[in-house]
Amino acid sequence: MSSANEETAKLTIGDNEYELPIRVGTEGNRAIDIGQLYAQTGHITLDDGFANTGPTMSTICYVDGENGALRYRGYRIQDLAEQCDFTETAYLLIYGELPNAEQLEDFRANVRNHTLLHEGMRRVFSGFPPHAHPMAILSAVVGALAVYDKDSADTVDLAQSELAIYRILAKMPTIAAFSYKQSIGQPFIYPQNHLTYCQNFLHMMFAVPSEQYNMPVDFVNALNVLLILHAEHGQNCSTSAVQMVGSSNVNLFSSISAGICALWGALHGGANEACIDMLEMIMADGRQLGKYIDLAKDKDNPFRLMGFGHRIYKNYDPRATVIKEIAHRLVNKYAADDPLFEMAQELEEVALSDPYFIERKLYPNVDFYSGIIYRIMGIPKNMFTVLFALGRLPGWVAHWREMHLAPGKRIHRPRQLYTGHSEREFVPLIKR
Ligand code: ACO
Repeated sequence: MSSANEETAKLTIGDNEYELPIRVGTEGNRAIDIGQLYAQTGHITLDDGFANTGPTMSTICYVDGENGALRYRGYRIQDLAEQCDFTETAYLLIYGELPNAEQLEDFRANVRNHTLLHEGMRRVFSGFPPHAHPMAILSAVVGALAVYDKDSADTVDLAQSELAIYRILAKMPTIAAFSYKQSIGQPFIYPQNHLTYCQNFLHMMFAVPSEQYNMPVDFVNALNVLLILHAEHGQNCSTSAVQMVGSSNVNLFSSISAGICALWGALHGGANEACIDMLEMIMADGRQLGKYIDLAKDKDNPFRLMGFGHRIYKNYDPRATVIKEIAHRLVNKYAADDPLFEMAQELEEVALSDPYFIERKLYPNVDFYSGIIYRIMGIPKNMFTVLFALGRLPGWVAHWREMHLAPGKRIHRPRQLYTGHSEREFVPLIKR
């Protein structure tokens, strides 16, 4: 949905002048198209950390980092969080429009149909050592779907791609919950298809064969909103990983597995786990907030305020606002004596009145308060990022699908500026 624009950017290199097309997005955002730059000039662009590079045009999500706004397919996330359920949001992201009742029921039925895993996959889980991190298990088992469900692994075949989409959406909660059960040595609890997506996940996480599991409706609702808020965020590290890997035409499962690995890092989705670790550490160290704010500002110290700062948001992350409200509600009802939320809010207040954070426009991001909610729900820390992955899945799938349906799709293949040795003579081992 970019409009052709008469305007061009002019680039002068030596005596030569080049005109580069300017593309304009629907929200007036602008990009200089450098697709022909190397062919025309012999130059590449250098952009550390892809901070200024758009590898694609996309109709899925709009993030306005300056004003703290986020919209999926044009809809404000606040509206989706209030009025939608996660499966509906997944449909919207993947297929571009909100489903009508019939489309939604078809979609739900197609997803429900695939919640079971091949029984042979139990052996994949059992090969992991005790206490293996569930993110490691999740990425490995999702990758393994490519061999267990290989009749949906051909990306060029549209019917197989659709089947792969239903399968990954259906099986990820099962794999996520089994990863947890494996990590604590409990028996796997099989999916119950009469339950909703979120109910089913909580059931597989917390039920045991020997007892009735009563699922608090507040937790189901909180999970639904959290998954919606995590569902999509444009070209972040994990989504780019899914696209980069998927651009080689490898199957959806392998592409998603790559995204899970990218998400695990503490600078990305792993920040929710790292943030609770940090809050617990500060609490155990006598709540010396000033000490940790100083450490975060100290360039000689690697400590950073986890759950703070964002490459795109230079304002309060709109997801953090909603998540903080839910945290308030759940803390009041279920954990009034939990001091961690209170301390997190104090830490936020101290940071937001500190010139270092003000000048750099560092605000709480999606990961700052989400762990507070997960703790109240009884979700262990090492599952926080797994939940992020469950939420982000429709966004990954939507970008993967959009890429494959785009005319002229190409493999992603960045360049680099080589700064190593010039050609030199090989030195035999004996002479080194
Ligand atoms: N604590 C202290 N200082 C910070 C923080 C932080 N959390 N975040 C950024 N800064 C500082 C940087 O040191 C830098 O200072 P400088 O200009 O004096 O050098 C400045 O703010 C800009 O930060 P960059 O690192 O250049 O920002 P970048 O866009 O590369 O990184 C990131 C963004 C990774 C999110 C960063 O803010 C960070 O590490 N935050 C903590 C981890 C975190 O919460 N990650 C989750 C992000 S949300 C998500 O991925 C789902």
